[in-house]
Amino acid sequence: MQTKIIRINGSEMSRADVAAAATVIRDGGLVVFPTETVYGLGGNGLDAEAAMKIYAAKGRPSDNPLIIHVACPEDAYQYTVTDEVTKHLYEMLAKAFMPGPLTVILPKRECVPYSTTGGLETVAVRCPAHPVAHALIEAAGVPIAAPSANLSGKPSPTCAAHVIEDLSGRVDIIMDGGECDIGLESTIVSIDRDDAGAYLTLLRPGGITYDALTCVCDRVEIARAVSEQLAKDEKPLSPGMKYRHYAPTAPLVLLDGEVEDVLSYLQKAQESEICAILCYNEELPFLKSERLLPVGKRDDVEAHAKTLFARLREADGTNAAIIYAHLPDKSGLGLALYNRMIRAAAHTIQKV
Ligand code: TXA
Ligand code: MG
Repeated sequence: MQTKIIRINGSEMSRADVAAAATVIRDGGLVVFPTETVYGLGGNGLDAEAAMKIYAAKGRPSDNPLIIHVACPEDAYQYTVTDEVTKHLYEMLAKAFMPGPLTVILPKRECVPYSTTGGLETVAVRCPAHPVAHALIEAAGVPIAAPSANLSGKPSPTCAAHVIEDLSGRVDIIMDGGECDIGLESTIVSIDRDDAGAYLTLLRPGGITYDALTCVCDRVEIARAVSEQLAKDEKPLSPGMKYRHYAPTAPLVLLDGEVEDVLSYLQKAQESEICAILCYNEELPFLKSERLLPVGKRDDVEAHAKTLFARLREADGTNAAIIYAHLPDKSGLGLALYNRMIRAAAHTIQKV
């Protein structure tokens, strides 16, 4: 398949380009588009065959469900069933965070095929804020099912070059909208109920933090898989959590300790090992490895989030036998970083 690349400069978006991409979606084809989190590999969310094409293009197991992307929060009601309590909480979330990097799991309507939901009775819905994503969904007139636009097991793509590396020849169109703002995938929550009432379960942390969610709902439970390793026979609440993800080829080791101790560990390691190092900008003058990959200033979690996936890809491009990085702090956006990094490292944490 010949992949067409459409470059979009800043806010200059050609209507003809968007209309062409929307037609491909409606005709059952695949279009990669930018969002504020990461790039998405999109197809018609109501078309079972389009969903199968998405799984094939990514090399993804078809029991790992897709998120459907809608143009405005209220569109979710066409594809989901919500009782009063759920609807109220959804509305609160929508008012606070949509459009934006939040995905909500809701019971699906019949029109959403099981191949989109990986066989589940629920569907994940997200209303992205990126203007290109918004224009494409609106023009397509159907919800767009889109996982991150990487080959399964690779880090999510945060710029078009990553997408081209992974999916060129496997999709009809790649819309290049430059670098993604956030750089980590959306926060995923489900709306749940028990005797004490309705509450949110945080299934995947992202740009909308735990603290922000607690401003909307008093009770937010964090799924165990977010920051811990599940037992072999333990079923995760979100199917994606059982797959190894974001995996660089060389093993990634997360160093846990005081900043100075981690730095001296790295200084010794670079003498004896062929290692790539994801380091803070402040550490650059004190390290001399050829494979230094700065992730931003120490306290700049946003920069760290934005660069992480690109740096993991770059680390793969070196001939490093091992990759070292700091174990991030779990507060605020740090929880999302922590979640992605422990999984990329297959939970290899070394105390220093
Ligand atoms: O930021 C994002 O969310 C990006 C952009 C493109 O929107 N998309 C994304 O999709 O990260 P993906 O497929 O790479 O990750 C979706 C995650 C998977 O871990 C999947 O298991 C989970 O969402 N998921 C989808 N539907 C679900 C459902 N009904 N119940 C529980 N988890 C679900
Ligand atoms: Mg993904």
